[in-house]
Amino acid sequence: MTLWIDCDPGIDDAIALLLALAAPELDLQGISTVAGNVPVTLTAANGLRILELAGYADVPLYAGCPVPLCRSPIFAADIHGEDGLGGVDLPPPQTQVNPLFGVTALIHALRQSPTPMTIATLGPLTNLAMALIQDPSLSQRIEKLVIMGGALGQGNITTAAEFNFYADPHAAQVVFDRVEAYAIPTTLIGLDLTHQVIATPAYQQRIAALNSPVSRAVVQMLATYAQTPEALERKFAGPPLHDPCVIAYLLQPQLFQTRSAQITIETQSSLTLGRSVIEWTIGPSPLQVATEIKVEGFFDLLITALQTCPA
Ligand code: RIB
Ligand code: CA
Repeated sequence: MTLWIDCDPGIDDAIALLLALAAPELDLQGISTVAGNVPVTLTAANGLRILELAGYADVPLYAGCPVPLCRSPIFAADIHGEDGLGGVDLPPPQTQVNPLFGVTALIHALRQSPTPMTIATLGPLTNLAMALIQDPSLSQRIEKLVIMGGALGQGNITTAAEFNFYADPHAAQVVFDRVEAYAIPTTLIGLDLTHQVIATPAYQQRIAALNSPVSRAVVQMLATYAQTPEALERKFAGPPLHDPCVIAYLLQPQLFQTRSAQITIETQSSLTLGRSVIEWTIGPSPLQVATEIKVEGFFDLLITALQTCPA
């Protein structure tokens, strides 16, 4: 599976990247970063830090949009730390961000890929929206989209909205309009799914027992992530692992249950901006929303992957 990851590292993005890098069945063509958890200069630098930690510094990484399509930028340094990776003990990147603009790099990769490419989005959808606005024909070059975002229930950045869709609601609406118009096979991994995937102390101890530079970095990042209001307010036994669920779906979709749906994003109301209004549908739909996951199977997959990352 040829894959492109668009992300805003971000602690859970970082763990998702490590899971993807450890999977030989994912042919990672490139990574574009976007403003989200922290500004795009930091999300790009953090992507490089993770690539170097895992021994994959040769994967091309690009910086994309520094601001959302319309709304004023928001960040989540209170959750992911000022550096975006929870202050993890990793050196600054030694490699460089590719100078090509991330949206342009994504467009080129889609056009040049010999087969349609899968795109995993782990942050606000600004880059993907910009690419689809610039060249609508790219929709035929997309094998499938797997998107982390949204919620049927309560949000995590406001009561109404999940962070990725709140940070750029207009981009989310642009993307889902095109999913519907061009029937792009899409799976949405929202909070109702990711809140089932809690990195409890027991799972964190299994990761720590791997005793490698990768596992030590993950445990450090999870210690910060465990303090997120999202987990504390819900009395979770640890931080929810949102973005790694996207990669797990690519690797083992059989761990998930999904339902056909249609989605609309609130782009007008100041009270419910970024709200994902999800309607279940009967019959075929390009959009599937993940509803259940086999949690033990997820952590077996993640921990095995972390074990195989080069020491
Ligand atoms: O709401 C969770 C999502 O927002 C995750 O992708 C997290 O990294 C942030 O981007
Ligand atoms: Ca993210």
